[in-house]
Amino acid sequence: MTAGTADATQSVNAIDRDAVTGALAEARARTLTLLDPVPVADQTRQVSPLMSPLCWDLAHIGHYEELWLVRAISEAPPAEPRFDDVYDAFRHPRRERSRLDILAPAEARKFDEQVRERALAVLDRVDLRSGAPLLHDGFVYGMVVQHEHQHVETMLATIQLMEGYEHPAADGGTTTTGGTAAQAATDPLPDDVLVPAGSFTMGTDDHPWAYDNERSAHEVELPAFRIDTTPVTNGAYLEFVEADAYADDSLWTRAGREWRGEAQLRAPQFWARADDGAWTRRRYGRVEPLPFEEPVQHVCWYEADAYARWRGGRLPTEAEWERAAQGASLAAANLWSAGPRRFGPAPVGSRPDGASDCGAHQMLGDVWEWTSSDFGPYPGFRAFPYPEYSEVFFGDEYKVLRGGSWATHPVAARTTFRNWDYPIRRQIFAGFRCARDA
Ligand SMILES: [Fe+2]
Repeated sequence: MTAGTADATQSVNAIDRDAVTGALAEARARTLTLLDPVPVADQTRQVSPLMSPLCWDLAHIGHYEELWLVRAISEAPPAEPRFDDVYDAFRHPRRERSRLDILAPAEARKFDEQVRERALAVLDRVDLRSGAPLLHDGFVYGMVVQHEHQHVETMLATIQLMEGYEHPAADGGTTTTGGTAAQAATDPLPDDVLVPAGSFTMGTDDHPWAYDNERSAHEVELPAFRIDTTPVTNGAYLEFVEADAYADDSLWTRAGREWRGEAQLRAPQFWARADDGAWTRRRYGRVEPLPFEEPVQHVCWYEADAYARWRGGRLPTEAEWERAAQGASLAAANLWSAGPRRFGPAPVGSRPDGASDCGAHQMLGDVWEWTSSDFGPYPGFRAFPYPEYSEVFFGDEYKVLRGGSWATHPVAARTTFRNWDYPIRRQIFAGFRCARDA
């Protein structure tokens, strides 16, 4: 459904009421399509100390919408003042949220519906061309739409952690992730591509729904470098595992060695070796033979960093990644609204249509890619609309991830989008590609 892609791209740039209403409705449909089949008990429980109960995410989506689309732009009071505490992500870490007085799944749905009715009533009255910073180009609506989609991705990570649960939509559609080996490019792809020395514009000033951390656009000068044509595959990563590289201290940083020991890292999360020596991985409750051509997922930054060293390379810096991604586009197949799809990245080489100007494939919409960079502000950074979106996370605790995964909605998958996480995290849909000096 190629037309759907065009519509989604347009909706990011259009600021009329219909586009906003449509984007909000699409986000909600995606949320409920994911959650509706999940048993109520599983929506309520603490699946992992790393994740919120699913019904916390669900009501938090509504609470955030009330904060920004009702309270921030009209005089309306909160529906339930105590929600300002229980649904504030900064006041309660994920591991304690199942013990809070939170709404049950059915109540959370109802709350979200009521907030949506109020938000649409406010939308009828506001002037999207007023020039007010929150309303300008529909920014606050874009923020809320992206927030809901980002929580859908978080909920997908939670559901993947549920050991015995097979989500019925995980194998939806046919080959909607963009193809099979049969569709792969006929010519084998080169291992890497050269990015010549030069300057480029990093970040953005003109994407209407870009976050504060993507601004301002600024020139960055880079020496020439080479970068892998595709993300590292399961097959390539398996060679690293089987070469006993997890035990080779020379490949790991000191912090990496410590974490490898503490977390007993031996292979990516969800991988297992059967008695006959063949490797499998668990994907939404299904144990499958390891698909060698698929980008590796569920590796932490330390594993990515050690692998890159083993290969004689390194992780790209964030600037190198963005430079290499210029001109990349999302394959039409990544659009969720086109219908159900298989939960996972596409085999490498199956998306030649989205290649970047320098010839790198699958930079958007398959796996988040770890970079070597800490999360920090661009020159001229100004927190907007609140410091807790980005500013409080700046520093050397977090590593930047780029590109968006198969679970990222197109509205948040763009070459300037910056994600960040602790270098130990593996439940996210993160892989990587290697770079080297030219
Ligand atoms: Fe949130």
